[in-house]
Amino acid sequence: MQKRQAGSISVVTSYDYTLAALCDGAGVDILLVGDSAGMVMLGYDSTIPVSMNEMCMFTGAVSRARRRAVVVSDLPFMSYQASREDAVRNSGRLVKAGADAVKLEGGVKMAPHVKSIVDAGIPVMGHIGLQPQTAVLRDGYRVQGRTAASAERLINDAKSLEDAGAFAIVLEMVACEAAEEITHSVGIPTIGIGSGNSCPGQVLVIQDMLGMYNKKELKFVKRYANLADHITEAVHGYQTDIITKKFPAEENAFRMDDGEYEMLKKGRRNGSGGDLG
Ligand code: KIV
Repeated sequence: MQKRQAGSISVVTSYDYTLAALCDGAGVDILLVGDSAGMVMLGYDSTIPVSMNEMCMFTGAVSRARRRAVVVSDLPFMSYQASREDAVRNSGRLVKAGADAVKLEGGVKMAPHVKSIVDAGIPVMGHIGLQPQTAVLRDGYRVQGRTAASAERLINDAKSLEDAGAFAIVLEMVACEAAEEITHSVGIPTIGIGSGNSCPGQVLVIQDMLGMYNKKELKFVKRYANLADHITEAVHGYQTDIITKKFPAEENAFRMDDGEYEMLKKGRRNGSGGDLG
């Protein structure tokens, strides 16, 4: 492994015990239980339908796998927007399920909610730029911060989140120059996704980087494996082995204790049936 650059932060999404244990073992800094779980794990079209119960279940699975990484869990759509009380109560539920910190989407408008959660003792990660929970209600899935005015708004959002006590901020699909300005405007780390390499942290959805979720090609994703092909090939191999009787082989089977089979057959021949003592 390359020597780590000071201050760099690696983040991957995690939703289940098996992959979370592998990512934790590989040394990532943060396991993000993202509400992207709704799409990659549950097959929803967006993150909007994701519930608190679902997020708590994913959080529990990831936290049971974690040995050293920090577990951050997303507050799903409408679990925090309506009131600061909702925000605190639902953050508490995620912590009880195993999260070390929570993440929510929004800038200036959500800063009071962030402050209330932080005041309750729960660390908060902010998330600005493209905000998937409300993107469909606003201007869709587009790159943010392409104009000076939009970049200014993002800088204000970032500063208000920092003032409210957030410990880091995700920048999703922000134009590189704007992301760099935001990063230099705040004293807390920015975690980029589709926002260039000026952010000290980077996050990717694990299914995207492992090539397991083939619904859409995303320009900002780098594929580190193509597991979809490997998995499909492995399952085909399994089916073929079943058809050709290659599986299960002798080494996959269990045998009766020595002499027991002969005794069973003799008993059946003598008509004692199952009554062998
Ligand atoms: O839900 C998620 O996976 C996220 C990341 C894309 C940052 O919020």
